[in-house]
Amino acid sequence: MPGRLDGRAGIITGGASGIGLACARRFIAEGARVMLADRNAELLNEVAQEFGANCAVSVVDVTDEADVERMVQSTIDTFGRIDHAINSAAWATYSTIVDHDMAEFRAVVDTCLTGVMLCVKHEARAMRDQGEGGAIVNIASINARLAAEGLAAYCCSKAGVEMLTRIAAIELGEFGIRVAGIGPGFVDTPLTAFSRVLPVIRDAYIASTPLGRVGAPEDIADAALFLVSDDGRWVSGDTLFVDGASMQKGYPEITKIASS
Ligand SMILES: NC(=O)c1ccc[n+]([C@@H]2O[C@H](COP(=O)([O-])OP(=O)(O)OC[C@H]3O[C@@H](n4cnc5c(N)ncnc54)[C@H](O)[C@@H]3O)[C@@H](O)[C@H]2O)c1
Repeated sequence: MPGRLDGRAGIITGGASGIGLACARRFIAEGARVMLADRNAELLNEVAQEFGANCAVSVVDVTDEADVERMVQSTIDTFGRIDHAINSAAWATYSTIVDHDMAEFRAVVDTCLTGVMLCVKHEARAMRDQGEGGAIVNIASINARLAAEGLAAYCCSKAGVEMLTRIAAIELGEFGIRVAGIGPGFVDTPLTAFSRVLPVIRDAYIASTPLGRVGAPEDIADAALFLVSDDGRWVSGDTLFVDGASMQKGYPEITKIASS
C-alpha cells in the first residue's frame, strides 16, 4: 500500500525527543524523508540511528535566524524539496510573575514564539519558491487558551503561536501553503517527566481529562499526519486541540496541589 507521504520531504524541529520524534516515526513509516532538527546534538544523532537513509539531522537553535536558514537550505540540499514542517521545539520554566527572572522569561518566549516565527518564515519562503504548496504545523498547547499559574512565559508564547498560525494561513494561502496548529493536552514526554516524580500532579491532570488518561506522543503524531497529508487538504489557520477534552474542564491548580 502506498504511504500517505510517499515522495515528500520535510522538517521536524524538536525532533530529537517527545512529540517531534513520534512525528518523525509516523511520517517516515508513511514514506516521508525527514530532516530531524534539534539543538541537542548528542540526542539527535542517537535517535537518528533508528531511521537510516530517510532521515538526516540538523543541529539548530530555533532562536537563531542563521541556524534556521541553514536548516531549511540543508533540507533542500539533502532531499531536493520541502513539502511539510512540524515546529515542535520548545521548553518551559516555572515562576510567578512577581518573581520572574526576565532573562528567563525572554528566553522562553524566544524559543516558543520567536523560534516558531523564524521557522515559519524560512520554511514558507522555501515552499513558496518551490511553487508546489506545502503544509506547516505549529505545535501550540492547551495553554494557548488555558491560563496556568506559574507558566506566564509559556502560556503567552503558546497563545502567540495560535495567532501566528492564523496570520500565516491568511498570508500563505495564495501559494497553496497551509498552516495549522496542534494544541496538545498533557502528554508523556521528557518535558513532563516532572510528573512522574510528583504523582499527585499527574493524577490532577488525569482528573481534569474527561477521556481519563494522559496523552501519548503518538496521539499527537497521528493528528500531525492528518494535517500534513492530503487528508488535511482544506484545513488551514485553525489549531486542533488533541487533549482528551481537557480544554473543556480547565487547568489543574498545580501550585496548590504541589504544595499540599
Ligand atoms: N508534553 C506535553 O504535555 C505538551 C503539552 C502541550 C504542548 N506541548 C508542546 O509540544 C512540543 C514538543 O514538546 P515535547 O513534550 O515533545 O518536549 P520534549 O522536551 O520532549 O522535546 C522538545 C525538544 O525541543 C528541543 N528544543 C528546545 N529548545 C530548542 C531550541 N531553542 N532550538 C532547537 N531545539 C530546541 C529540545 O532539545 C527537545 O529535544 C512543544 O512545543 C511543547 O510546548 C507539549
